Amino acid sequence: MKIFIDTADLSEIREACSWGIVDGLTTNPTLIRKALDEREGIDIEAYIEEICRIVPGPVSLEVASLDADTIVEEAARLHQRFNPVRENVVIKVPVNTSTGGPQPDFDGLRAMVKLSELGIPVNATLVMTPEQALLCAKAGARYVSPFMGRVDDFLEVGDSRGAEGSVPGDRLVAEIVQILNTYGLNCQVIAASVRHTLHVRAAELAGAQIATIPFRVLKAMARHPKTAEGIRRFTEDLVPEYTELLAALPRS
Ligand code: E4P
Repeated sequence: MKIFIDTADLSEIREACSWGIVDGLTTNPTLIRKALDEREGIDIEAYIEEICRIVPGPVSLEVASLDADTIVEEAARLHQRFNPVRENVVIKVPVNTSTGGPQPDFDGLRAMVKLSELGIPVNATLVMTPEQALLCAKAGARYVSPFMGRVDDFLEVGDSRGAEGSVPGDRLVAEIVQILNTYGLNCQVIAASVRHTLHVRAAELAGAQIATIPFRVLKAMARHPKTAEGIRRFTEDLVPEYTELLAALPRS
């Protein structure tokens, strides 16, 4: 399974990339706001360019508008501006653009169809059910992002209004993987809204091609109290002969 980092924070991106385990990155408006809030007077264009430059794989940048024509226009402009940096830009488009008010519901799907005709890769975001994922795949999205944590939150609240078709995050990812495989749809699953390491494991076991993981969870994946205890013990048990041998071995 590929690992994407779910952040717009350059210091987190640099650190995780230095471990050699990052295959791509996802951002969203909230993550960009968080990264900018922590930095004064930033040039956002240069900042995003730097992200595209350091990440060795797909970088998802999200559109801001809610109508199909403007989504397509924004996507094309984002792609044109940042894709040349490393040929890795993917555009995030929400599966549904309605906020529950009078906005059109289906402009996300309309935009995905148009963008796939233009050859601009789309990551369909805010996907909460397998049916939404199926629609996005049929609309030409290259990636679909089921939101594991947010659907878990939704079910936890216990309000069943609008919950039809909702299943917990681990099942959501598994069902989407199965459906896309069954019908041979050319769309990769990015397990998103990952809150803890067990979400990552569920995504792996489900056969998701990718999980996009916050830095905090990436760090937790590498840690275990018994590993730390093992390191303490091995360090205490080092005999001087062994340390001397290590120091004396020729350098390559
Ligand atoms: C995915 O691409 C999103 O950026 C992200 O996973 C959202 O996660 P959240 O529900 O923790 O905000």
